[in-house]
Amino acid sequence: MTAPAIAVGGLRHSYGDLDVLEGVDLEVAPGTIHALLGSNGAGKTTLIRILSTLLKADAGEARVAGHDVASAPAEVRAAISLTGQHSAVDDVLSGRENLVLIARLRRVPDPGAVADALLARFGLTEAGARRASTYSGGMRRRLDIAMSLIGDPRVIFLDEPTTGLDPEARREVWAAVRALADGGTTVLLTTQTLDEAEHLADRIAILHEGRIIVDGTLAELKALIPAPTVEYVEKQPSLEEVFLAVVGAKEMP
Ligand SMILES: Nc1ncnc2c1ncn2[C@@H]1O[C@H](COP(=O)(O)OP(=O)(O)OP(=O)(O)O)[C@@H](O)[C@H]1O
Ligand SMILES: [Mg+2]
Repeated sequence: MTAPAIAVGGLRHSYGDLDVLEGVDLEVAPGTIHALLGSNGAGKTTLIRILSTLLKADAGEARVAGHDVASAPAEVRAAISLTGQHSAVDDVLSGRENLVLIARLRRVPDPGAVADALLARFGLTEAGARRASTYSGGMRRRLDIAMSLIGDPRVIFLDEPTTGLDPEARREVWAAVRALADGGTTVLLTTQTLDEAEHLADRIAILHEGRIIVDGTLAELKALIPAPTVEYVEKQPSLEEVFLAVVGAKEMP
């Protein structure tokens, strides 16, 4: 068996009196897309911040690309990238200038060539010389993801990569993320939208009340709720039904 790209055990985090993560366990296999699904305030961003070394956990363990986030944060940072919930794109710069800037900061050889290759890969060549302030939401998000790929990180964290995008732009981003995983990159993404998890992820973990309450493939998750008994046309449960069923079950006394 190959070592997991991300391994989390018993992770806890509180903000003052507010217990957000109360023993999170999660494993993500290399080269896969794992979706972390949860309601507003479930703690998705908190978990991503701990895994990307921006925040220290109160207890528990997390290893990313084989390195412990607490004892080897520099090694973790060298192996990952993070695309936050809020864009890192600088509006005053062009798309290409944004990429060149990050490539310089990460000391990548030949920043111009790296920028041009990423513009081409994300369908932004024509827009490359334009100020990012003129980009549509989808273009901006693709630029954001392109920026996070500089330096070939092995693991990428995407915090709500498609929030606020229209359906077409979401599909463009999904295709870009899928291509990353096909190239061997491990992706952990957070989402509140069930269809995103359904379309994109190899595995789906549901974070609820501080813990991962379900983790599996879409088929495994769908098998968790009983098939409807009386239906004229056989109907597969949607991920939304699974989500509501498992979250609801958890809340029962
Ligand atoms: N720096 C902070 N100080 C205090 N409380 C915080 C802080 N950051 C987050 N919280 C709280 O912790 C909880 C989890 O927040 P987090 O941002 O991790 O959730 P999330 O699952 O990413 O939510 P969303 O879907 O809205 O992005 C929320 O109740 C939030 O208000
Ligand atoms: Mg969040």
